Amino acid sequence: TAEQFDTGALAGKTVYITAGPTREPIDPVRYISNHSSGKMGYALAEAAVDAGARVRLISGPVNLPAPARMERVMVQTAEEMLAASLDGIEGCDIFIASAAVADYRPTSVAEHKIKKGAEEIMELHLVKNPDIVATVAARADKPFTVGFAAETQDLIDYARSKLKRKHLDLIVANDVSQPGIGFNSNENAVTLVGRDATLTLPQTSKRQLASQLIRHIAEQYTKTR
Ligand code: CTP
Ligand code: CA
Repeated sequence: TAEQFDTGALAGKTVYITAGPTREPIDPVRYISNHSSGKMGYALAEAAVDAGARVRLISGPVNLPAPARMERVMVQTAEEMLAASLDGIEGCDIFIASAAVADYRPTSVAEHKIKKGAEEIMELHLVKNPDIVATVAARADKPFTVGFAAETQDLIDYARSKLKRKHLDLIVANDVSQPGIGFNSNENAVTLVGRDATLTLPQTSKRQLASQLIRHIAEQYTKTR
């Protein structure tokens, strides 16, 4: 509502959120992707709007309806997600990278459907995709930048090294080895890792968690500006 826009923790702020998987084509009928549902990113986008922000949701292919009250840009590949992320970035105050971006894409996309050969082994050559959140955080006019780290081991150590390597302001660490949370689930539990403090948010619905995360992100953002 207009009242929330005037008084929310993110009133007047522009927030970009990447969400869902990317899809990297191999040929006209095949691709490489992952099981990201996009639910966490979409929940964050809703929570950011509730907090008064103007939101651009940059989404890979997901089975979720277009949310109201925000701009949604649908993309397929990591390169398209990067382009949509850099579009208007100079006006972005907070960038939240919840997307599960494919780390690699096929070096080339076959023009026609690849036929099964006689060989038992077939090799696919892959090239590294651009790192979207690191590209955003490397800018001189960088927004307050939040990443996610989905790990199956050494959660906090890996999260902390990603925070530093990608020059993030905050990272949301997610233990995806635990059943019932994270990828494709409706619930999640995370640890927020900042430059000098960590905070654990216990398991709850992605919707609940999203509003807690947005509250902490808004708080940290306000402190650093
Ligand atoms: N990310 C991104 N662009 C990429 C890869 C990752 O923006 N090409 C972002 C994700 O959205 C997430 C953060 O970087 O916010 C960490 O992603 P993750 O896959 O955990 O890290 P990687 O650096 O790809 O390392 P690895 O997969 O080897 O753990
Ligand atoms: Ca990765």
